[in-house]
Amino acid sequence: MSATTTTTKLLERVKDLKQIPTIPAVLAPLLRYLEQPVEDLDIQKVTDVIAQDKALAAQCLRMANSPLFGRFQKIDSLRTAILGLGFQRVSDIAMSCGVLNLTPKDTGGIDPVVFWEHSLGCALVCRHFARTISYPDPRKAYLAGLLHDLGIVVNLWSFPEEFRRVFERARSQRIPLHEAEQAVLGFTHCDSGSLLAENWDLSADLHAVVSLHHCSYESSEHAPLIAVVELADLLCRMSGLNYGYLENRQVNVLEQPGFAVLLQKFPALRDFDWARLTFELDSYMDEVHGLVHAIYRK
Ligand SMILES: [Fe+2]
Ligand SMILES: [Fe+2]
Repeated sequence: MSATTTTTKLLERVKDLKQIPTIPAVLAPLLRYLEQPVEDLDIQKVTDVIAQDKALAAQCLRMANSPLFGRFQKIDSLRTAILGLGFQRVSDIAMSCGVLNLTPKDTGGIDPVVFWEHSLGCALVCRHFARTISYPDPRKAYLAGLLHDLGIVVNLWSFPEEFRRVFERARSQRIPLHEAEQAVLGFTHCDSGSLLAENWDLSADLHAVVSLHHCSYESSEHAPLIAVVELADLLCRMSGLNYGYLENRQVNVLEQPGFAVLLQKFPALRDFDWARLTFELDSYMDEVHGLVHAIYRK
């Protein structure tokens, strides 16, 4: 199918959709706020934003009191909860709850939590990886990881029946989801995500990540950010932070397009110890699983 036909088909379906996901009320100001330089970030402002959403405020309190964070004293004020959790963890929780509310109630038997586990896992791995290679904006890498698979939300809303077949095919053949989408739908979550990113008016670099993370993106001006996401996404899909099934293929990170892109920008990667990162990720994954389970599996 040509690119134009794909876009037309998608636009037709998405236009008809009465309940196109809108950016959650709390997520929009948080996304904007997180774009600020780190020295301008203020915990009180975050508290004010979160306080507007009762469910989210309750979730922060529940998390702050979770044994995961080793709390022995009951915390019952939102501000104390936020101070106890720390800004970074509060953002993780807020963003994760915000995006989880985007999925439709009926997903035809697909557990939407696995997608958000993958997205949050990818966000955390992106940030960790970005810091490890001295990528200049680890917070942006985090956001990019969290939002990269936004197109899956559109597919769940707009093409529930077809997407259920996509998912069954991907899981039974143990192939990457975007390959199954291309075979069944004729487009991927990159195409549908691009429409939502436009609808939400995401910044150009996040839009590029959503649209291009399974494509050739080497000539994009945002190639380094997409590369961080591509590699983190791959590491997640090859580990326990996948879409609920393990793909049946051997992947060498050093042969990925993203590696070549990053190597140009960060020559230190030449001597990078991948075995060590993989080893670190193994223990890091346990932490990620703990966090996503605490957020999503109540
Ligand atoms: Fe993806
Ligand atoms: Fe992904």
